[in-house]
Amino acid sequence: MKKVYVFDAYGTLFKVSTEIPGLKKRAVSVVNKIQELWRVRQLEYSWLMTCMGKWSDFNDVTERALDYAMAYHNVNDPWLKEQLLSIYASPSTFDDVIPFLKQLGEDGKSTSILSNGVAETLAEGTKAAKINKLIGQILSADQVRVFKPSRSMYNLVNQTYDCTSEDVVFFSANAWDICGASSFGFNTVWVNRGGVPFETLDCEPGQVVSDLSEYQF
Ligand code: LAC
Repeated sequence: MKKVYVFDAYGTLFKVSTEIPGLKKRAVSVVNKIQELWRVRQLEYSWLMTCMGKWSDFNDVTERALDYAMAYHNVNDPWLKEQLLSIYASPSTFDDVIPFLKQLGEDGKSTSILSNGVAETLAEGTKAAKINKLIGQILSADQVRVFKPSRSMYNLVNQTYDCTSEDVVFFSANAWDICGASSFGFNTVWVNRGGVPFETLDCEPGQVVSDLSEYQF
């Protein structure tokens, strides 16, 4: 069986923070703090929802996390909220993404996204980021109604490609996601974009790269 190359979306292929033009210097600092707390709560809410056996899609979880982060910093600004949510509606990619996906395509490799994201939002996002023709499949939490690191999410790959976990190479910038995928049996590549230590979660990534161009086939 040929290997399948599978990518987490947000933080790995798509950027999850942005600079908002026109903000005053003081506001920039607060908006950066809002974005940091927003990403933490977004992921925490996804884990909590799944642990509680509850479901709402990632767009809903993402908006609720942003509402919390803005309230925490005493900011009530619908315009700012819309600007920040556009990160997901019309995402941009890191510079290494398109060249790497093009190389995989030229080499005839199967590629997929495996993401908590809403399927339609992911599809629109790949078009906005100009990678829609470079990604073969989009696998979304919508299909199983639980979020990563649930095993049901990683198993979507095995079901879709009728493959074993050994046939999968999984890329994520999120160390917790790498731990979930590694414990499921995937070959894993941690894309350490932030240059931070790996989580002390009793698991090791197969490869560690600072960007996709460093991946060793
Ligand atoms: C995703 C988030 C968790 O794309 O990065 O699934």
